[in-house]
Amino acid sequence: MCGIVGIIGKAEVAPLLLDGLKRLEYRGYDSAGIATLIEGRIERRRAEGKLGNLAARLAAAPLPGVIGIAHTRWATHGRPNETNAHPHATARVALVHNGIIENFQELRDELSKAGRKFETETDTEAVAHLLTHYLDQGLDPEAAMAKMMPRLHGAFSLAILIADRPDIMIGARRGSPLAVGYGDGEMYLGSDAMALAPYTDRICYLHEDDWVIVSRDAATIYNNGKRVNREVKKTALSGALIGKGNHAHFMMKEIAEQPAVIGDTLQAFLNPLKRQIELPPLPIDLAKISQLTIVACGTAYLAGFVAKYWLERIARLPVELDIASEFRYREAPMPKDGATLVISQSGETADTLAALKYAKAQGQKVLAVLNVPESTIGRESDVVLHTLAGPEIGVASTKAFTTQLVVLAALAIATARARGAIDAQREAELSTALTEVPARAAEVLNHDARLKEIALKVAECRDVLFLGRGTSYPIALEGALKLKEISYIHAEGYAAGEMKHGPIALIDDNVPVIVVAPSDDLFEKTASNLQEVRARGGRVIFFSDKAGIARLGDAAMAAIELPTVDPFVAPILYAIPVQLLAYHAAVAKGTDVDQPRNLAKSVTVE
Ligand code: AGP
Repeated sequence: MCGIVGIIGKAEVAPLLLDGLKRLEYRGYDSAGIATLIEGRIERRRAEGKLGNLAARLAAAPLPGVIGIAHTRWATHGRPNETNAHPHATARVALVHNGIIENFQELRDELSKAGRKFETETDTEAVAHLLTHYLDQGLDPEAAMAKMMPRLHGAFSLAILIADRPDIMIGARRGSPLAVGYGDGEMYLGSDAMALAPYTDRICYLHEDDWVIVSRDAATIYNNGKRVNREVKKTALSGALIGKGNHAHFMMKEIAEQPAVIGDTLQAFLNPLKRQIELPPLPIDLAKISQLTIVACGTAYLAGFVAKYWLERIARLPVELDIASEFRYREAPMPKDGATLVISQSGETADTLAALKYAKAQGQKVLAVLNVPESTIGRESDVVLHTLAGPEIGVASTKAFTTQLVVLAALAIATARARGAIDAQREAELSTALTEVPARAAEVLNHDARLKEIALKVAECRDVLFLGRGTSYPIALEGALKLKEISYIHAEGYAAGEMKHGPIALIDDNVPVIVVAPSDDLFEKTASNLQEVRARGGRVIFFSDKAGIARLGDAAMAAIELPTVDPFVAPILYAIPVQLLAYHAAVAKGTDVDQPRNLAKSVTVE
């Protein structure tokens, strides 16, 4: 996805826009650019690569102007170079875009026939030419926007300048968030509240198909040609630019924050005195639903995978689990007495949002586990269970994942109680196990140096396997995802029992096998798999607890002893060593840990 920010102000806007982009760089960092209006003409500065390159460009050639738009890009159509960097412009119109215009080729063909000349490979440029085309026909901006909106197919959020209208800035959204910020004699447009936090805490989120004409002291919002009103809310987000503290990377800072944010999240759902889970009011009766459908992407999906084991085993609730990009198209029949749970750190992931809309269209009530309740998914859900992880800047999800697991564990316990599957004693035991996690997580962080040593060996490998059973299987998948997405080493997670059905052919002494295996009721089975790997010359890295290490530690090239905990909370704890392993392997390889190649923090395109 991309980041958008726009200001119609009183002072020079370029430095403010650059500052706004810094808060949005996690959304995409292939290129960046700013456009302002100066004496009736459009001026741009754009640069390929990271924001620092744009800053250098601006330092060398400052950009005056008190009205401007800015963009940081995650490329969809067109190579990530300066030519394709936003803002895109004609002589009359400059605009920035987040999303995909699916009918851009048809528009390009039509406008080329009308004599318009295209310079880029992007879908976005077609929008600049289309709006210019309507303005050239003599339409005013309102009429031109009203005419253009129905012509655009796909997802977009737009911020637009019109060269001869320095008194207005235009915004529009469909399927990709855009917020209007209310200042004092200044107004703003931004992809999310975080981008606008330094300027204002008064935010209005545009709804689907809204477009807005923003002047310096007002916003006039339209939808399907009619004026509409949208609520202006106060955002709680701080304007302070989140720093890395004394860590080399945001990812390490966020890994280290986990004991604290796990505790913060837990206290929102657990009454330690009663040793009971207390959820907010839900739009469903957990005792009566026949099935819970869990849908998410990436790491969030793997949190849902762990939750499936918990909900089915402890609460006896059938769970249908799927990745959002598949679920949204397979037209799954959904039980009338079922419910749907979506999980998302950003709350902006396009596939997860689309899956949510499918579920709602099927009559499902939707619960959302989110780290950003003010997000699009937050607004579309019937209830939000909030992970109190704080802003997660590193592209690789870490503290969001473990706090998602905490919320899901609380949901599993509450569901089990509601369905009479556990008694008060068992609820107290499970709740106590959860209360121990922050302290145990802090202990796990003490293995950082040892994990770094192991990671140096892993960093030299081309292929890595992660194995686990039960709730350790999604953790094996998560370890593989972490390693591949930040170190670019090919890694795969497998159900340990599945190895003998094919993947064991991969084993040789160049393929380290990371076995995630607390000494739970599946340990002996996993122990056999570990021996099968060893018997074929495989090098095993073993994550277990004292009993597990005592039983099998000698069979491993390296072993990490984690605290002994109730097996119920083991997946939360065992996520941390796989995060640290991936982090140190990536640092050893010199990759861009916080902003890995080709990725973005939240994928708001399909
Ligand atoms: C996680 O490390 C990845 N960056 C990615 O898989 C992420 O979990 C996925 O894109 C879902 O994002 P969301 O939680 O914001 O919906």
